[in-house]
Amino acid sequence: MCRHLAYLGPPVPLARLLTEPPRGLYEQAWRPRRQRHGTVNADGFGVGWYLPGPAAAAPEDAGESAAGSAAGDDGFARPARYRRAVPLWADENAVELFRAVTSGAVLAAVRSATAGTTQDESAAAPFRDGRWLFSHNGAVPDWTRLPTTLPSAELLAMEARSDSALLWAMAVHRLRQGEPPGGVLAAVVREVAAARPTARLNLLLTDGRTIAATAWGDTLWYRTGPDHVLVASEPDDAPGEWHEVPDRSLLLATTAGVRVIALRPVRTDSKDTLMTESRFTLDDRLPTGYFTESLRADVLAGLGGTPRTLPPKWFYDKRGSDLFEQITRLPEYYPTRAEQEILEQRAPEIAELTKAATLVELGSGSSRKTRLLLDALTARGTLQRYAPLDVSSTALAEAGEAICRDYPRLRVAGTVADFETDLSLDDDPGPRLLAFLGSTIGNLDSGQRLAFYRTLSLALSGDDVLLLGADLVKDPDVLVRAYDDAAGVTAEFDKNVLHVLNRELGADFDPDGFEHVALWNADEERIEMRLRARTAQTVKIPDLDLSLDFAQAEDLRTELSCKFRRESLTRELHEGGFTVRHWWTDSEERFALLLAVPN
Ligand code: AVJ
Repeated sequence: MCRHLAYLGPPVPLARLLTEPPRGLYEQAWRPRRQRHGTVNADGFGVGWYLPGPAAAAPEDAGESAAGSAAGDDGFARPARYRRAVPLWADENAVELFRAVTSGAVLAAVRSATAGTTQDESAAAPFRDGRWLFSHNGAVPDWTRLPTTLPSAELLAMEARSDSALLWAMAVHRLRQGEPPGGVLAAVVREVAAARPTARLNLLLTDGRTIAATAWGDTLWYRTGPDHVLVASEPDDAPGEWHEVPDRSLLLATTAGVRVIALRPVRTDSKDTLMTESRFTLDDRLPTGYFTESLRADVLAGLGGTPRTLPPKWFYDKRGSDLFEQITRLPEYYPTRAEQEILEQRAPEIAELTKAATLVELGSGSSRKTRLLLDALTARGTLQRYAPLDVSSTALAEAGEAICRDYPRLRVAGTVADFETDLSLDDDPGPRLLAFLGSTIGNLDSGQRLAFYRTLSLALSGDDVLLLGADLVKDPDVLVRAYDDAAGVTAEFDKNVLHVLNRELGADFDPDGFEHVALWNADEERIEMRLRARTAQTVKIPDLDLSLDFAQAEDLRTELSCKFRRESLTRELHEGGFTVRHWWTDSEERFALLLAVPN
């Protein structure tokens, strides 16, 4: 049922967005990959674009002038449109036009018509009112009998006889009253979903400066760059990283960033489905272009020098995160179970000691162990908010949704950020318990740890506490086996970073040309994971113009996993601005969980 996209950024030829990208909107007209309903989108298409400045306003057309132009349009450009009732691939003129027209704000759609709707070009998106362009991907069952409070004049002014045009009339009614675009889409979805629970309502709205979109029954993705944002039903294959928007959410975007907010239907006594104020928000604070740019910088800084190194954070794409989950269940990898044991035993005590109103979790990942803390703090009755912070928006969305479901009175405020560079703890209610579990602290070297403690201690208030999980120094054989398991899962995990570089930077690493090595560095008291070249070899990274010569048995260090002792960890925390108040270990003293307060 239709595919659509919206773009904001520097002016580009429309062809760059629509016809040129492999698997882009043009191909999606006959071969969509992720569309959940219907097969082809051959019932017309349309594109609307903004010309710079209000002077370039397009003429009024009959349908809109009757009701007057939308309120508050002063200073906004009015978009132009090109729509046809034929399939996009059947209009060669359009393809030519797309090469000639350039714009910095575009909304386009290919249509698959619902039975019983207008089939001419008036039913092809984008619909328009004043500065607004709109598209709907989905279907509303039995739409002609949808209860609505719209005045009949507005119903008669509908651009076409279709469910999408009716949704647009409902949105226009609110826009003309000055409601903000995100609120308008949420309200339309709420109203329609209450009457038609199976309706699919992926809406897309722009005024050339902001984009609002809903994911409700079909797919929605976005991609950001340093100066642009693209929102689309499904990703194309042009370079760049796409993020999927979870179903039942509202997306708000400008060129400065993207916010995704959950839209949660809640049953109320009056039998109506109502959206309460959302308990789950996801704030994407990564600077635009973060992934590609920081990966490039890390590779340039770490791979060129000697010894060759890479920061461990690049292990964790989807496959890497799955492999890590498997590692936590390996017989040799004790840290997860040891920490779990301590948390099971101490969570009630931690809740009593901290009386936390907010649980902040850094690098939350799948949030599995967190539930022990959430349970204890909920039982204690102090907890209002869970604020996980992670670089993976997908992991946050999945974990956040699940926790929202299971803790009905909890607000979940996820932040997509890199805690090494952006540790913003904002306005969460205090006292706050900041959990940094799994001994992820061990991935930092001593200099990085000190800088991290200092930033953190400054961000915390007097009644906040830090809960830190740390793996302890022990028999080197036990340690090495934990990082070089018999089943070879850790070896796969280690090599996954090569797959990431191959995919993201076009590198040509041969993962089989490297051997996984886990080595105990007794002086530094840390495990070092390395990839050792089996033979002399040259690796090319075309995206960075790099050619790397590996000697036989040369190592690439992929991870540090520092192990700690009570005395030295207490001392370094003190230097970083924290006083350790409690220190708990598991029964075999393999792992420690400590509670520290800012000095
Ligand atoms: C999640 C970073 C704490 O260092 O033990 C597991 C990652 N690396 N096996 C760790 C890891 C290899 C893990 N941390």
